[in-house]
Amino acid sequence: TSLPALLAAMPKAELHIHIEGSLEPELIFQLAQRNGVAIPYASVEELRKAYAFTNLQSFLDIYYAGASVLLKEQDFYDMAWAYLRKAAADNVIRTEIFFDPQTHTARGVSMETVVNGLHRACVDAKTMGVDAELILCFLRHLSEEDAFLTLEQALPLRDKFIGVGLDSSELGHPPEKFARVFAKCRALGLHLVAHAGEEGPPAYVWAALDVLKVERIDHGVQSVKDPALMQRLAQDRIPLTVCPLSNLKLCVFPKLADHNIRQLLDAGLVATVNSDDPAYFGGYMNDNFLQTFAATGLAKEHAYRLAANSFEGSFAEAGAKRRYL
Ligand code: HPA
Ligand code: ZN
Repeated sequence: TSLPALLAAMPKAELHIHIEGSLEPELIFQLAQRNGVAIPYASVEELRKAYAFTNLQSFLDIYYAGASVLLKEQDFYDMAWAYLRKAAADNVIRTEIFFDPQTHTARGVSMETVVNGLHRACVDAKTMGVDAELILCFLRHLSEEDAFLTLEQALPLRDKFIGVGLDSSELGHPPEKFARVFAKCRALGLHLVAHAGEEGPPAYVWAALDVLKVERIDHGVQSVKDPALMQRLAQDRIPLTVCPLSNLKLCVFPKLADHNIRQLLDAGLVATVNSDDPAYFGGYMNDNFLQTFAATGLAKEHAYRLAANSFEGSFAEAGAKRRYL
């Protein structure tokens, strides 16, 4: 089989997808109409034209605006279901989906509305052969106190998510800011991940590991600047959930050909390929694989390695993991 056919057909796990980032412009307009929410764009085309980003913050501003059309449990279900269908089509058989409850609770949408809608779609995805779980992310531009409040609101729904993460504006909001709330989540037996080293320095990756005690690093591509950190990530087999098209669109690398995914793999790191915010960055899982392999010249051996890394890095229970591998 050809390399593109292998990349498309191979079973894979997605470990870095923000469900609010899967909201396509068409669905934004449909939900705006359904809910009577005004949006400052005249058409789907006009909205899509605004998707020209220069850095993480320029994306986040429009990403939070897009999420404002989500009000009812069914809206969250419809958004997640649309993503899960695309995941199934890309042969994603396991996905661990981030959601940002504070983006919604701040607008008066209840935690139950958010979690119940998303979780029902995850349950229904089993009929498509997709094993889907949820990871609650704290917004790092808000306070740790706000994160504690959010955790408290989510705890009655504890059986509907498997872990917590940390996302939003990275620079100026180091992991240490959330040391106490992550310690509490750890004591509760939740899985722990954090965005670090997307735009931020290697010091943020160190802090995510040593202060927050996360099990995976989301992005982490800036780690190549610190040889001692690279050694630590390789030695402890800490997965990096890399998102090539996201890095391209947010100008972390000038061209996809300049991406350091091969350097990460060659250093023995458990690097994976993921879509991050596919509706905004121009591609779902297989688009990320196909474009990255075409631009950087990765080969079949890298494809097998990336698929194996995705299952090794997943939080699936041990038995399922062995079956996947
Ligand atoms: N980085 C930080 N926060 C985010 C991202 C990201 O890539 N996507 C959605 N929220
Ligand atoms: Zn992300």
